[in-house]
Amino acid sequence: MGKFYLTTPIYYVNDEPHIGHAYTTIAADVLARYKRHRGLKVLFSTGTDEHAQKVRQAAEKRGLTPQDYVDQLAMSWKRVFSFLGVEFDDFIRTSEPRHKKVVQEFVSRLYASGDIYKGYYEGWYCFWDEAFFPESEVRDRRCPDCSRELQWMREENYFFRLSNYTQPLLEHFLANPGFVEPEIRYNEMLNILKSGLKDISISRSTITWGIPLPFDPQHVVYVWVDALLNYITVAGWLDDPEKFALFWPADVHLVGKEINRFHSIIWPAMLLAAGLPLPRKIFAHGFWTKEGQKISKSLGNVIDPLKVVQDLTKYTGNERVSVDVFRYFILREFPFGADGDFRDASLQLRYSADLANDLGNLLNRTLPLVEKSFSGLIPSGKIDPLLSKEGEKTVKLVEENMDNLSFSEALTSIWAFLGVLNKYLDELAPWRLAKAGKIEELEDSLFNVLEGLRFSALLVSPFMPTVAQYFWESLGLEGEVKKVVWDRELVWGKLPAGLRVSKRPPIFPRPGKEAL
Ligand code: MSP
Repeated sequence: MGKFYLTTPIYYVNDEPHIGHAYTTIAADVLARYKRHRGLKVLFSTGTDEHAQKVRQAAEKRGLTPQDYVDQLAMSWKRVFSFLGVEFDDFIRTSEPRHKKVVQEFVSRLYASGDIYKGYYEGWYCFWDEAFFPESEVRDRRCPDCSRELQWMREENYFFRLSNYTQPLLEHFLANPGFVEPEIRYNEMLNILKSGLKDISISRSTITWGIPLPFDPQHVVYVWVDALLNYITVAGWLDDPEKFALFWPADVHLVGKEINRFHSIIWPAMLLAAGLPLPRKIFAHGFWTKEGQKISKSLGNVIDPLKVVQDLTKYTGNERVSVDVFRYFILREFPFGADGDFRDASLQLRYSADLANDLGNLLNRTLPLVEKSFSGLIPSGKIDPLLSKEGEKTVKLVEENMDNLSFSEALTSIWAFLGVLNKYLDELAPWRLAKAGKIEELEDSLFNVLEGLRFSALLVSPFMPTVAQYFWESLGLEGEVKKVVWDRELVWGKLPAGLRVSKRPPIFPRPGKEAL
């Protein structure tokens, strides 16, 4: 059995989970579910990055110790992700002892091999982003990333010899054009490499909330070095060699484009220095805006996924279904590598056109026909060569797209198939066949549409697990869709005749006149 190890970034615990965090994590969950459907042994990790300086400040403000504070926050992040249907295999927190051990051992090895050395650092520092910025990028003492005020800092630091890895990384990039995707992000990284890397500071002596350097405990490990190492902690480095041998290297790190450099340059250099294999791929996706504007706290336009789900529930009447609508929307709206805009009107349109109409209504108009003409039992029928070809073609397209992380394109191909099924039903008009007493034709056409519905349920399952299960059960099928191995079941004609369909209230009720 093959394996698949995929990760999300670990999030700064002191922020509220917003659409950006939900986006990466849901994308990863969809990919994880898909890989499980393909029969792979999956390790899917997400988690929280807890040693940020701002965490300590926020804890102090609340009169809590940093540890107590992060314990509370990590719990609420976990809850939000679970609510969004995210089934992670591991939730790593950087304040856990298993992680501390990994970080300390890792930096000790690099220190012993000469890849870490002591020096001084001086420059403009942003406490929020935990990063120094070169003079050339700084205007008005403001952080080029977050616009907060910068501080001039001089401190004794330990440095990592990143410069030694320019050449090996360049070679790796050139030999592996798919190492960073999409291509635009690959090219950005390649240009950085071509201009040469400088050593980076990897410790702080002004901070106490962090993992102490074992060879100089006055210093704590720089939060980014600490955070990146989560990926090998999860895979079992040190503690579980068998697990590590199975899962490492990671198959893909999903990240937002703003943290691509950390993942595509610094992290691989760290791994090279430790003699560990490099991840197979880093995929840096784009950013959401809201109604055309950058999302930011100061603009007050941060999108809270829980609020979106709550609003949708006014229409669906079911939170789990609303979660699926949200999952569908964010992955359908624009290609995964691009930037995209969150517009309420677009969410509304996708709900009523794609979900209520194309998907929901197909089921709603098929089941009564089975009820009426066959007492609710699925008839047996001859395979329709056209539909079965369409079904199998769709499976191929979906798999190709999912393998490339082209989520939106995968959904587009499922919706093209739903279009074919809807048209087939319109043209064959089984209700007329029933009236005319053409029973055999009726059996054949209904059987094939129901088969199409079964295929659709399986194909949407990674994106919309609750909806898929509803379709599954409506067709009288048993068990959990999410556990079905596609290769075994996505064979046209496998739908067992004689199952009793069950007609239930529509899963996507019409929203009425009010806007969503
Ligand atoms: N803690 C670091 C990551 C360490 S990983 C070893 C960090 N955390 S973060 O909380 O700021 O999360 C950043 C991630 O949130 C981005 O990489 C991206 O996945 C997601 N997003 C944050 N805002 C976003 C948008 N507006 N749009 C899409 N995703 C964005 O950086």
